Amino acid sequence: MPGKRDLLSMLDVEKDLIGILELAASIKNRTKAGEPYEPLRGKSLAMIFEKSSTRTRVSFEVGMTQLGGHALFLSPNDLQIGRGETIADTARVLSRYVDGILYRAYKNETVRELARHATVPVINGLDDREHPCQIITDLLTIQEHRGTLKGLTLAYVGDGNNVCNSLLLGCAEVGMHMLAGVPKGYEQDPRLLSEARPISMVTECSIEVVHDPVEAVRKADVVYTDVWVSMGMEKEREERERIFLPFQITGKLLEAAKDEAVVMHCLPAHRGLEITDQVVDGPQSIVFDEAENRLHAQKAVLVRLLGRE
Ligand code: CP
Ligand code: NVA
Repeated sequence: MPGKRDLLSMLDVEKDLIGILELAASIKNRTKAGEPYEPLRGKSLAMIFEKSSTRTRVSFEVGMTQLGGHALFLSPNDLQIGRGETIADTARVLSRYVDGILYRAYKNETVRELARHATVPVINGLDDREHPCQIITDLLTIQEHRGTLKGLTLAYVGDGNNVCNSLLLGCAEVGMHMLAGVPKGYEQDPRLLSEARPISMVTECSIEVVHDPVEAVRKADVVYTDVWVSMGMEKEREERERIFLPFQITGKLLEAAKDEAVVMHCLPAHRGLEITDQVVDGPQSIVFDEAENRLHAQKAVLVRLLGRE
């Protein structure tokens, strides 16, 4: 669709990432100053969630309201999708009513199919391959706490999952070194690793994958983790919890990182598994600033895709 912009992958914002981050920071300042900013007056966003959500659902719904628009939460069980209407027809019909569609899917292909048939922008609210809305937020949060992005080192410790894949691309796009400390067999998606490498050469940063969590965090300015069992992988829980245990973010592991390193987690956290209470509630944790920034970053994404800025 000419002129339609989707956000399905971090690759879709490669050229505009810095602009979106600047817009998010300015929207945040306006919100904090109590300045009304309603560029999406009269616009509607349909939100379809195949899986649970707290942050994505609430930040997009509140964000649309604050921008002067309106969001509709649609459960696939209540939509005719649940009774067999195709994703393509759903996309065609919703495009006649709303100005954008947010979709959280089990499969990346479902979001892509929706985007192919929608004539309005489609936003990936997480799938099995990526979580771009989260990573735009994370970069905003790191920028706020460290004053810069380029040249910093982010260590991701845990599962090479959707969040890790999008971080890999996001770090490459802004010139942050990324070290993934993951168990063998749980590395990032190789297709995204090969997309990220040429980008990192242009932005002059490194991408490393190691299998030792201490080695991963040694040079880290940011230590990041996520759940070991992502939504849709519940059958692997027992095996994953055993394999990932050495990759838990503990106070002791954090001692190996730089003294000023910050700790991030996209949340929800499984306290006592991928991260201890001591770390998530500790002085280096910025997880709740990160959660708050979902609102500000999602507003910037909405303005960029559904508005004119
Ligand atoms: N981080 C994140 O996407 O959280 P939700 O699953 O609550 O939306
Ligand atoms: N990797 C996690 C992220 C949750 C926000 C999952 O997909 O369940």
